[in-house]
Order: sequence, then structure tokens, then C-alpha cells
Amino acid sequence: MTTTPEGVSLGMPQLPAPDYPDDVRARLERDAAEIVARYPDSRSALLPLLHLVQSEEGHVTRTGMQFCADVLGLTTAEVTAVATFYTMYRRKPSGDYQVGVCTNTLCAVMGGDAIFEALQDHLGVGNGETTDDGKVTLEHIECNAACDFAPVVMVNWEFFDNQTVDSARQLVDDLRAGARVEPTRGAPLCTFKETARILAGFPDERDGAVEASGSAGPASLIGLRLAKGEAAARVVHPRDGGPHDEPQDRAPRDAAPHEPPAAEHLSSHDAPQDTSASDPAHPAGPVAEEGE
Ligand code: FES
Repeated sequence: MTTTPEGVSLGMPQLPAPDYPDDVRARLERDAAEIVARYPDSRSALLPLLHLVQSEEGHVTRTGMQFCADVLGLTTAEVTAVATFYTMYRRKPSGDYQVGVCTNTLCAVMGGDAIFEALQDHLGVGNGETTDDGKVTLEHIECNAACDFAPVVMVNWEFFDNQTVDSARQLVDDLRAGARVEPTRGAPLCTFKETARILAGFPDERDGAVEASGSAGPASLIGLRLAKGEAAARVVHPRDGGPHDEPQDRAPRDAAPHEPPAAEHLSSHDAPQDTSASDPAHPAGPVAEEGE
């Protein structure tokens, strides 16, 4: 701890950090060399290196930051600035499963706030806290661009779509019981440390993991298909088994009565235009080059 000349503790830990045991450091140095070799500028390897040290201890420690600084020739201040900027790096010991409930606007109104409150009561922890068994850390998370599946819960960054209070309670119960839990899409769930190693750039070697990395599913493609002039497919909401979208089974409102040829553009916004057509300073004709 840092202390004043009068011996008053300021409550802040002081560098240098303790080193890793020799065998751990040697292993991490081998992994780090593999990561650094992927980048033309070694400094670019800082983010995956922080995931690497996070995979060792479950969070980014002072020892981990010192290691990154040593490997990359950076100051610990530079490494700390990056590690504290991104929320994907934990700064304190946490659970095997980071359960993040999206409470941004859309998820919140669709039930995310209710889910977060219910999980706090159910687990007996607050935001950023870990259950006594060390299994689950509960967190608010920001929008993960999965709003069409709101409310969304993420476990170690894997998606659990269209959650309810009941399904979220069941999810954390299963995680704590060690039951097999499958995300709605993507690879099978693994622990936070294992996830951190994958994010560091090492392959997920579990059987079937790569093949299982699926897409966002049909709902996220509806807008794209509408933009292309296709009729929207019928969407069945997995939560209630009923129709989810209003314009189902019919052509989009602005579509022509007959299906346009594939090459035809539906609006001026996506049609390629000559420069002269989109530049008010040159309403017609090619622009003469200076000196012509
Ligand atoms: S608001 Fe929750 S994923 Fe976008």
C-alpha cells in the first residue's frame, strides 16, 4: 500500500507487481510470442495479450499488466490505460460465468430491467458481484446489437435471446449446477477463462465448436430482404410461438406490384449515380478537368 510520510495508508496498491511463477511466465511468453508475430507493429498485440493474461487468472491483474508491458516494451501506465478503458477486461476476481443482462433502452422495455431485478433477488448479488460459490457474476451490459432478440442476456459473451424472468432464472440455476447450457446461437458455452483464451486468438478446439457457430437467424435478415424487395418471411417468435412481425406474408409497402428484375434498384438511395447527378454544383455532363 502507498502511505504518506506520516504513515497514513492511501489504500492504493503499488507497482512493481509480483511476477508469475517461472513455469507460468515461460508458458505465457511462448503464447505471447505467437500472438505478437501476427502483427506488423507489436503494440497492436496489446488487446489479445490482455485477453491472454485474463485467461490465466480470470481477470487482469497488476502482474498481467506488467507482463504485457514487458513483452511489448510499453509502460505499465500505457497498458493500464487500455485495460481500464474496455469493459471486457475484468479488474477483480469474478465468477466462471459472467451473466450480463442488457438493460439498454429496447431490452429494458422488453423485460431486461425486470430480468436484472429478478436475478439480483434470485442470486443475492448486486451489479458486478459474484455468487458465493464463485460461479456467476451478474452485470448490467450495454446494447450488444441484438435488439431484434430483446431482451438479451449474454453469458461469457454468448447470446441468450428472447429471455424472460423465468428462463433467466433457470439459466443461472443451470450454470451454478454445472448443467450443460447451450446459447441460442454460436459456439457452446465455456468458462470465462476459456473464453478469454479464445479471444486472445487461440483456436477453440472443442469438438464441434467451430461448426456450431451459427448466425443471428431469420429475424435479423428481415430488413435486408425487405430492402431487396422480397416479401418478408413469416417469423414465429420463439417465446410465444406466435407471429412477431406485422407485415408478414405480404410484399413491403413500397414494393412494386410485380417483382422487379433482380438488377433493378428500388430507390434512388441505393442506385449507382453519376457524379454529375449527385453533385448540385455540376448538374449535368462530365466535369472538365482543370487545364483541359
Ligand atoms: S438494447 Fe439490448 S441488444 Fe440492443
